[in-house]
Amino acid sequence: MCGIVGYIGFQNATPILVDGLKSLEYRGYDSSGVAVLNQNTIQVVRSEGKIIHLEDKLQKSVIEGCIGIGHTRWATHGKPVEKNAHPHIAHNTVLVHNGIIENYEELREQLRSEGVQFSSDTDTEVIPWLIDKYLEKEGDIEKALYKAISQLKGAFALALFSKSDPSTIYVAKNASPLIIGVGQNETFLSSDIPALLNHTKEVVILDDGQVAKLRADQIVITDFQQHVLDVTPRTITWSKEAAQKGGYDHFMLKEIHEQPSSIADCLRGRINDIAAEVDLSELSDPAFFDGVDTISILACGSSYHAALVGQYWLEKFVHIPVSVEIASEYRYRNPYMYPNTLSIAITQSGETADTLAAFSLAKSKGAKTLSICNVVDSSIARMGDEVLYTHAGPEIGVASTKAFTTQLVLLALVTLHMAKKNKTMAQEDIKKLTHDLLELPRTIEETLHMNEDIENICKQFTKARDFLYLGRGASYPIALEGALKLKEISYIHAEGYMGGELKHGPLALIDDEMPILALSQRGVLNEKMKSNVEEVNARGGQMITLSEEGDDTYAKISDVEIKIPHVHELILPIIQTIPLQLFSYYIAKRKGCDVDQPRNLAKSVTVE
Ligand code: G6P
Repeated sequence: MCGIVGYIGFQNATPILVDGLKSLEYRGYDSSGVAVLNQNTIQVVRSEGKIIHLEDKLQKSVIEGCIGIGHTRWATHGKPVEKNAHPHIAHNTVLVHNGIIENYEELREQLRSEGVQFSSDTDTEVIPWLIDKYLEKEGDIEKALYKAISQLKGAFALALFSKSDPSTIYVAKNASPLIIGVGQNETFLSSDIPALLNHTKEVVILDDGQVAKLRADQIVITDFQQHVLDVTPRTITWSKEAAQKGGYDHFMLKEIHEQPSSIADCLRGRINDIAAEVDLSELSDPAFFDGVDTISILACGSSYHAALVGQYWLEKFVHIPVSVEIASEYRYRNPYMYPNTLSIAITQSGETADTLAAFSLAKSKGAKTLSICNVVDSSIARMGDEVLYTHAGPEIGVASTKAFTTQLVLLALVTLHMAKKNKTMAQEDIKKLTHDLLELPRTIEETLHMNEDIENICKQFTKARDFLYLGRGASYPIALEGALKLKEISYIHAEGYMGGELKHGPLALIDDEMPILALSQRGVLNEKMKSNVEEVNARGGQMITLSEEGDDTYAKISDVEIKIPHVHELILPIIQTIPLQLFSYYIAKRKGCDVDQPRNLAKSVTVE
C-alpha cells in the first residue's frame, strides 16, 4: 500500500511529516524516509524498518525547511532495505510514490541507455529520472511532469518537488489514494484523511487522472490533459480514530470493503488484456512451470482453505495431480516426494513457523518451490525459487479477508497460466476467464452491496450455539473458510462439511435450533446439494442458502436465501466468500466481540 505525506507552509516540515507517517504506518512499515528543501538543497533521510528508526536518524541529522515530502513503504519491487526506501532522488527532482509502475523495466532500460545510473531496485526510481529528463528538455517542471505521467502505466500516487520550482509540491494520482489538507497559508498532503486531522478538517480528495500543484496559499488541480478543474474542499466531521478505519467500525469491515481494490492490485500487470492471457513474466524463470508433473501445496489456517480451492482448479483445468497439506502435519511426516514436484507455500504473513518448516522440508527433498505471500521479502517469500505476491496491502484484522481472496486470485492466475502452457483448456475459455477476472473487482463491488441485507439477516442468528456450513466441489473449502471466520471472531462453534458427508454423522446434530448455511454448486452437484438441504429441512434445521442469481433451486426450501451474482465456476468460490465474511462480521459485532483482535489468536503465528 505505502503511505505518502507532504507539507508546504511556514513551519518546519520535518516533524509534521514524521507525525503524518506515524499515522500512516498501518499502510506499510518496512522502511520510511523524508525529503526537505533547505536553501535550494534537497536533504533526504531514509531508514530501514519502522518509523521509530527514521526518528532516531533524524535526531542525529537534523533537516529543516518549509517544504517536504515523506513516505512509509510496503515493498512491492525491491527488498525492504534503505536503498529502496523513498524518497527517490534524481539531479533536480525528489519523489515519493505509492502504487506499481507496470512498465518500469522498459523505462529503466531506456533511461539506462541514456546514461542514468539507478541506485535502487524499485519501480519508482524511474519516475524522478524521467521527470528530470523532460525538465532538461522543457525547462519547466510542470510540463516535465505531464510528459512523464503520459509514459507511466499502472497505479500511482506521486508527490514531488524540484529545485527548479522551490515553492511548489506537485502531486498526481491514478488508482492510489491522495488527499490534500487545506490550512491557513499551509497545505498538507496524505494518503488518508486521519493523518491530516491534527492540522485541518478541510480536505480535497483527489480523483484518478488528476494533478495538483500545491503552494502554501494556493491549490490548482488539473486533469492529465492540463485542463484546470474547479474543485471545492469538503469538511470532515469524523473523529481521528473513526477516520483511521476509513469510517468503518472495524479494520475487518474496512478490509472486506477494500477487496475490489486489493484484487485490482493483485491482477495489475498480470493479465495481458490484448492477448487475453495471463502474464506471469515477473517470474525470473520463464520456463518455471515446464516439466511439473505434480503439485503439493502447503499452508495453515485460511491460507490452507485457499490452497484447497486451488487444488480443485488445478486438477480440473490443468489435469495435474495436486495434494494440499496442513503444514504442521506435513513437517513431521516423512512425505514421499514424486520427481518433478512443484511445492507451493501459501501464506499471508510469510512467517508462519509451520509453513516455513514444511516448505523447507519440501525444498530439501528436491521440490521446485513457489511462494504465494502477501508480505514482501518475508522468510517464506525469500525461501521459494520464485515468489508471487498477492499485493493485498497490510491486513490488520486478525481474521483474514482480503489476503484470502487475493490468494484465490493468484491461484486462478496460476491455473490459467498452466492451462495455457499445458494446452488443457480451450483458448476461447481462457480468453473468457481472463476477461471475467479483469471484471472481478467490479463484480465484488456489486456483491458488497448486500452489506446491509446481511447485517439484517444476522440478527436472527446471534444466539446460535453451533453452525454448520455445507459445500461441495470448490465451494467446500469456502464452507470451511466461512465456518472458520465465524468461530474465530464470534466464538460460535461452527464446522464446514462436504454436503455428501452430512449423512455420515452431522445429520445427528440437526434440530430446530441448528442453523445450516449451504453453498450452491454447478451442474450435477447442485442437485446433490438440493437433496442435502432437503435432508436438513426434514429434521427442522434453519436453512440459509447462498446461490447465484437466476438459480431458483433453493427458493422453496430455504428459510433465508442470499443471492450473489452469476459468475463462471472458477470465479464462484471468490464471490461466495464475500457474504460469508460479512455474515461472520455482523454476528460477531452484534455479540459485542473484539472483531479485530479475537481472544487467544494472533495475526502471524511464528511459533509452533
Ligand atoms: C493465523 C491467522 C490466520 C491465518 C493463519 C495462517 O492463524 O490468524 O488468519 O490464516 O495464521 O497465516 P499465514 O500468514 O501463513 O497465511
